[in-house]
Amino acid sequence: MSQQRVGERQAAMKQLWETSFSAQIASQAYNTAPVEALVRTVAYYLRARDTADGEHNLHFLEMGCGAGPNLLWLAQRGIRVSGIDISPSALALCQDNFRCAGMQDQVGQLCEGSVTTVPFLDGAFDGVLEACVFQHLNRQERFQAFAEVARVLKPGGVFVGYMLDRGHSTFQQKQAEQLPEDPGSVLLQDNRSNFYLTNIGLAHFFSREEYDVLLKDFSVVDPCLTTYYLPREEAQKRGYDTYLQSMWTVYAVK
Ligand SMILES: C[S@@+](CC[C@H](N)C(=O)[O-])C[C@H]1O[C@@H](n2cnc3c(N)ncnc32)[C@H](O)[C@@H]1O
Repeated sequence: MSQQRVGERQAAMKQLWETSFSAQIASQAYNTAPVEALVRTVAYYLRARDTADGEHNLHFLEMGCGAGPNLLWLAQRGIRVSGIDISPSALALCQDNFRCAGMQDQVGQLCEGSVTTVPFLDGAFDGVLEACVFQHLNRQERFQAFAEVARVLKPGGVFVGYMLDRGHSTFQQKQAEQLPEDPGSVLLQDNRSNFYLTNIGLAHFFSREEYDVLLKDFSVVDPCLTTYYLPREEAQKRGYDTYLQSMWTVYAVK
């Protein structure tokens, strides 16, 4: 892709997420709770590293940190945190949340930008998180984002990601519309809201095999499936009778 096309694509992604965050803020619908699958996985990782004085001396990055609930959870466990997000509105919420919690001292950098080119040094982080971000990238961007995860992690550093799986109800319903050049990806646009998955544009549903390729230089690659049905009322709001969330929690060690 030419530099101009990359610039245009990033401007479009920024616009999409700014629109989504405005709608989420208006409906008080943005995520304020840490993602349970990330919490569980990172908690196991930290338990193995607990010191007698509770000091970790770790620095984690979240790629697509949104309003920052995952970063705040980490900071409350004594971890230094940095975040990158394409939406300035999301970053403003994140900064506010750290200010309200009195935890600004735990923040390294919160910066606006794309997960495909992150402005951090090689090996800068002990851990990298992402939740529901890489699933909205096209094929080239996904390879770039995973390469950036590998680049900014220290050897032995941990990656924990949370992404859509092909067993998800939306993929099951739409799989006939997969993009021929990018199997697993569909374009979702139903004008029901500006923030449900069903209206966020490109969505990629990962298969188990993809992680071995995307995380090829990692010593451990351990994706685990979590599935649950949304309550019927919530499913119906999204235009479904039943709605199975089928998500990968990917644990990998560089
Ligand atoms: C579904 S929200 C998840 C936010 C956060 N990870 C959480 O768990 O609450 C997706 C976030 O990714 C951000 N995002 C989407 N595409 C991005 C990109 N290419 N680069 C950086 N951030 C991006 C959006 O602005 C949004 O904050």
